[in-house]
Amino acid sequence: MSQNREQWGSKLGFILAASGSAVGIGNIWKYPSMAGQNGGGAFTIIYLACILIVGLSIVVAEFVIGRKTQLSPVGAFEQLAPNTNWKWVGFLGVAAAFVILSFYGVVGGWILKYIIDSLSGGFTELAGNTDAASVVFNEFITSTFSPIIYQLFFMGLCIFVIIKGVKGGIEKWSKIMMPLIVVLLGVLAIRGMTLEGGMAGISFLFNPRFEDLTASAIVLALGHSFFTVSLGMGTMITYGSYLNKKQNLVTSALWVIFLDTAIAMLAGVAIFTTVFALGGNPAEGPGLIFVILPSVFPQLAGGTLWGTIFFILLFMAALTSAISILEVVTAYFIDQKGWSRKKATLQFGGVITIVGVFCSFSLGGGINITGFLGMPFFDVMDYLSSKYMLPIGGMLTAIFILKKWGISEYMIELKTGMEGMNLSSSLVKIFLIISALVVAFIIFNEIYFEIAGKALIG
Ligand code: TRP
Repeated sequence: MSQNREQWGSKLGFILAASGSAVGIGNIWKYPSMAGQNGGGAFTIIYLACILIVGLSIVVAEFVIGRKTQLSPVGAFEQLAPNTNWKWVGFLGVAAAFVILSFYGVVGGWILKYIIDSLSGGFTELAGNTDAASVVFNEFITSTFSPIIYQLFFMGLCIFVIIKGVKGGIEKWSKIMMPLIVVLLGVLAIRGMTLEGGMAGISFLFNPRFEDLTASAIVLALGHSFFTVSLGMGTMITYGSYLNKKQNLVTSALWVIFLDTAIAMLAGVAIFTTVFALGGNPAEGPGLIFVILPSVFPQLAGGTLWGTIFFILLFMAALTSAISILEVVTAYFIDQKGWSRKKATLQFGGVITIVGVFCSFSLGGGINITGFLGMPFFDVMDYLSSKYMLPIGGMLTAIFILKKWGISEYMIELKTGMEGMNLSSSLVKIFLIISALVVAFIIFNEIYFEIAGKALIG
């Protein structure tokens, strides 16, 4: 363990940084649109159950592995299981970071462009006209240069924050941005609820409609509970590695999950109250954010302000997630290759940005290097990471603890810092077994779907 390894400045700083990683684009558009379309409150009940079992178990597992080894994923698995293949779980995480950040950076750029459009009154002419909003969005993302300029700016900011380090970069910015996200979303939610007809949006989001809760909705809830807390690629291992032994890892993980869920729900309230009050279409997918909202906001009094607030908070959510992805890559080169933080961040932040440029090009503005797969490169990267790399990484992490490290060794590290709290190792074990099985099922279902053309369930 290196003597001068960086550490978080405070307990709160760590929790805000970890929840900053968890709270991302997934919370602000994925949860609301999925819950709305798949049974409202019924979906939310399943999602809560999943996140309290699978999400909690694996967040804690990643924190424990990181804090125990004081290393990022590759080094961590190598230290706990020397000369075995387990280090490949770490490499899978680093690879997933490259894959995710390349397209996440492109979307970060889109958000930036929408802040500027909203500020400059560019949404005004889209008022109530989703067709026009859709044309604007599609023309933008399929053009060659303009999305790339915004993407470069977004990636530049990520690199800037990560070069400043754990305490002076990640922690400092998370402490500013996370409270702002909550406050701004709260303001938007109150605005939405006080609009005439806004409450219909709340019942769309939360009323349990069990008839809409199909098997595929349950699989979606499982997968999302995993994605939304950034599991499976060692982000939480890396963040855990900057912790000292005083932190209670279970309460920290509960905080992260609580903030992640609360912010997702608040986003749902803010979005659907506004959309319903103004007669918009509660669509699913990126259209909800980039097409419906820009046509709805300008119909509100002060619409320029509300639209700008929304895209700024979405931008902050994306940025605090993106930096955590870049940190996994940077920490690998610092821990395993002995590079300086600056060199690692600049070089690999640069490489990821270039891969991202090809993601953007693949949407219509240039070459599509995966054209032969019948899919844009952008979609291939999204698909690979969220359907395969993250679930496989998360499942292997749970199996690692159960099969290789051993539950008793694991419990020793887990219990450090939680004196006075009782935790039964059989309960921890059951949770981990359920998590591994659940994730294995999701992966199997996906592979079966690819081969047989239909899912086992859903
Ligand atoms: N949790 C992020 C969101 O909700 C997305 C995400 C998935 C992520 N895996 C990650 C972010 C790994 C950072 C690191 O948008």
